Amino acid sequence: MFDKVMESVKYIESKVSLKPEIAVILGSGLGNLVDVVENKQYIDYKDIPNFPQSTVAGHEGRLVFGDIKGKTVLIMQGRFHYYEGYTMKEVTYPVYVMQKLGIKKLVVTNACGGINTSFKPGTLMLIKDFINLMGDNPLMGANDERFGVRFPDMSEPYKLNFIDKAKGIAEELNIEHAVGVYAGFSGPYYETASEITMIGRMGADAVGMSTVPETIAANYLGIDVLGIACITNMATGIQKVKHSHERVVETANRIATDLCRWVQEIINAL
Ligand code: HPA
Repeated sequence: MFDKVMESVKYIESKVSLKPEIAVILGSGLGNLVDVVENKQYIDYKDIPNFPQSTVAGHEGRLVFGDIKGKTVLIMQGRFHYYEGYTMKEVTYPVYVMQKLGIKKLVVTNACGGINTSFKPGTLMLIKDFINLMGDNPLMGANDERFGVRFPDMSEPYKLNFIDKAKGIAEELNIEHAVGVYAGFSGPYYETASEITMIGRMGADAVGMSTVPETIAANYLGIDVLGIACITNMATGIQKVKHSHERVVETANRIATDLCRWVQEIINAL
């Protein structure tokens, strides 16, 4: 894997000279952050040696390099989900590449279901911790010390001082927000009502099908993470209507404007 990652890195560095320290992974329907990036340079995933490819509708597959508020960033437009059939190593492959590109900070966003009944569709939740219910994780298998240690600490998966900064900015911008625990479920089906009861009792405020693998990998790789979960719907059994991907994307698009304002200022402040 190390040699593969280095080959991807070499290709990317041969195409762009920008040296970002901050990366952003965008969730479903949240891609409009890319519109505010200046001096953009794109690299399609399909052109990067050893890089996995996106399959889900509404997910583009490219890296966007450029500047937001004068800071150089790397945006992943389109991520890899475990439910697509990728291995956990493939899902998190881009994060390994980020480490070798010199990324130190990662902002991860997603669309997810709300379990905490004080939430409503449209709530933006800063993630303070995760529960991994995916039944797998990216660190399984032989460890390569060139990436990280065998037994990484996971006591602060989302950097507390990033959360504090993000909260302060949300207050300044008048963006309604919450803080909570995100449970990662493999999907691709939306959970059953009983699963949601269980996940809620475990202490999760929201549930989704992404973010946890990338967070685990980033912590292992020494990259500090801020996670923002966009509640696009209430979870099964709490919401009385049936789920639809179209509605999820529609709500994500509605929240995207606020999220975009918020993330720009966060990038500026991190
Ligand atoms: N559950 C899991 N993933 C999701 C949901 C949900 O309710 N909404 C958007 N992504």
